[in-house]
Amino acid sequence: MKAIQLEQPKQFRRLEVAEAAQPGAGEALLRVHRIGICGTDIAGYLGKMPFFSYPRIPGHELGVEVLAVGAGVTNVQPGDRCSVEPYINCGHCYSCLRGHTNCCETNKTLGVMCDGGMCERIVLPARKLHVSGKLSYEQLALVETLAIGCHAVNRGEPKTTEHVLVIGAGPIGLSVIEFARLSGAKTIVMDMNEQRLAFVREKLRVPDTILTCGDGEELKKLTELTKGQLADVVVDATGHNKSMSQALNYCAFRGRLVYVGITQSEISFLQAPALHRRELDIRASRNALPGDFTRIIELIEDGQIDTKPWITHHAAFDEMIEVFPKWTLPETGVIKAVVEVA
Ligand SMILES: NC(=O)c1ccc[n+]([C@@H]2O[C@H](COP(=O)([O-])OP(=O)(O)OC[C@H]3O[C@@H](n4cnc5c(N)ncnc54)[C@H](O)[C@@H]3O)[C@@H](O)[C@H]2O)c1
Ligand SMILES: [Zn+2]
Ligand SMILES: [Zn+2]
Repeated sequence: MKAIQLEQPKQFRRLEVAEAAQPGAGEALLRVHRIGICGTDIAGYLGKMPFFSYPRIPGHELGVEVLAVGAGVTNVQPGDRCSVEPYINCGHCYSCLRGHTNCCETNKTLGVMCDGGMCERIVLPARKLHVSGKLSYEQLALVETLAIGCHAVNRGEPKTTEHVLVIGAGPIGLSVIEFARLSGAKTIVMDMNEQRLAFVREKLRVPDTILTCGDGEELKKLTELTKGQLADVVVDATGHNKSMSQALNYCAFRGRLVYVGITQSEISFLQAPALHRRELDIRASRNALPGDFTRIIELIEDGQIDTKPWITHHAAFDEMIEVFPKWTLPETGVIKAVVEVA
């Protein structure tokens, strides 16, 4: 069967690989229909993703069809359409035993730390599949991106009376915005890129946006929008350490700051005036939980999340290698590109 491998940064290769095996106990054989491309794939392509190893078959945002199941599988059956929870956890570490499967100590994310779904068929643990009778394969491929935002907002625990500030309106920030809005809290979005803020206002119908260049004007605007209180929950989805350091200054007293973006650089801030005086919580948000996938499928089925604005680019499997470099350029307006396999 055909597959696409990232041999090394900036070098994809079309491969013929061995046909996927028959599913063993607890496993399912799947046909891959749609693959979403996200910042992780782009960073892996550009050689900027620290957790990415090469060569690697990418693909962790998958819309799949069940072809066959192994012994003991009861949650799915042949013909089911599913989204894949791509975090392959061990099931017995300290995190897994307490239900925090998103941060398993030896987690291997498909397509990042082990080979993923950029191929025609794949065998996966059936427990990682989330079925929908209604969603298209393309919508199912979008569920994982949304799950990152869902988990980040859950980490921030916004109340309906509170303000949530989302910093960074890339695909991850947009997924955070969906759930901030659904929480009922007043949502404000900050970015340095006006094109991304316009998308938020027009497509996600969140009117309050702040264009920042980091000169302090953004703090004044946030103060106005929050009637002087600042944001009870700040979610930083930039992945930039300067923004993540600055984010403490946007938090209200007793606020919660969630880092969903990832940086390898140091974050620094003054402890006394920001963290201590305001008694802030700083929380990380990694991956997502099984319940997030179930909830998102229901929200899309009920029409509470509209997936239409999300998917901006498509490519057939056979043309992906050629078009992929364009998807790395923000000026092409890519939010979510989807690869069509079958
Ligand atoms: N927590 C997780 O499990 C998880 C999963 C996937 C991705 N991520 C991380 O989420 C982050 C965001 O991913 P993405 O694909 O949306 O990235 P992206 O680069 O597309 O978006 C980042 C946005 O932040 C904005 N930005 C950058 N610096 C800023 C600043 N100082 N102030 C305001 N805005 C600023 C950019 O203009 C851009 O719109 C990355 O660090 C990525 O690694 C985390
Ligand atoms: Zn992703
Ligand atoms: Zn584990």
